[in-house]
Amino acid sequence: MSPFLLTRTLPEDATDAALRADVLQGLTGMPKTLPPKWFYDAHGSDLFEKITELPEYYPTRAEREILVARSGEIAAATGARTLVELGSGSSEKTRYLLDALTGLRTYVPVDVSESALTQAGHALIAERPGLDVHALIADFTAGLTLPRTPGPRLVAFLGGTIGNLLPAERSAFLKSVRSLLAPGDALLLGTDLVKDAAALVAAYDDAAGVTAEFNKNVLAVVNRELGADFDPDAFAHVALWDAENEWIEMRLRARRAQTVKIPALDLAVDFAAGEELRTEVSAKFRKDGVRRELGQVGLELTHWWTDEEGRFALSLSLAR
Ligand code: AVJ
Repeated sequence: MSPFLLTRTLPEDATDAALRADVLQGLTGMPKTLPPKWFYDAHGSDLFEKITELPEYYPTRAEREILVARSGEIAAATGARTLVELGSGSSEKTRYLLDALTGLRTYVPVDVSESALTQAGHALIAERPGLDVHALIADFTAGLTLPRTPGPRLVAFLGGTIGNLLPAERSAFLKSVRSLLAPGDALLLGTDLVKDAAALVAAYDDAAGVTAEFNKNVLAVVNRELGADFDPDAFAHVALWDAENEWIEMRLRARRAQTVKIPALDLAVDFAAGEELRTEVSAKFRKDGVRRELGQVGLELTHWWTDEEGRFALSLSLAR
């Protein structure tokens, strides 16, 4: 058996169709929105890597601290023989888990980015000759079929990316994750935690302006892919804490009234001066809420680990 397999579950043109549908829906609705998944072209992914190194953006460092401290406990609690990682990207933080999971036979990274999967996959099999890597090009929010691999299974969803889903999307997503698990299989979930508003807003509005550039990159993506004529300088980066929903929102605020043409959709979109386009929700969590949301889909929270400063949590839950 070949140690590196790549399976495409997304048609080549699925991304383009999904972008068109999202842009059409999001820019003709009220208020205007665009989903955050469109930040991540090559430039956007580079910008996100830069964000993870900013002094204000703590989640990546906090989660790494937990993985370094707790991977042994995660391995002992799960005994995983298959690790599935949703949104694996560069698989950089996964190495702590791979090192600790001594019984691991198969690693299944799942991502929409074929280049990220190929790069990470080849690096991993070179380093770990015994490990089968079966990469899946897939949109994990759309319902997954996993390869038949040895159990117990551990599904990891790191980085706090679950916070990008709205509550209804989140419960649908957790149900679909639960459907991948047999009793005794586990979910390892990274969640950023509620904390004081100033620290949260700073993490999404850094002094160096990298997050502002990341936010505006979605306009460049729509320009390139759909022939639109967004002027990124005509929009201001906005990050705000919604205390009621306990989430951060990123928005782009039109600096003046303007009309944007999107030829691929045969669409012209008017912005009033000061009008805001929501580009991301990044929900922050509390232990009780995480326990309840997991419980609702038949996952029992068994472990809850935070970094020293209590900013970020990794939870482990078992399928009943
Ligand atoms: C990659 C979704 C976890 O929400 O914190 C970083 C993305 N947005 N800065 C997050 C992001 C603005 C990030 N996630």
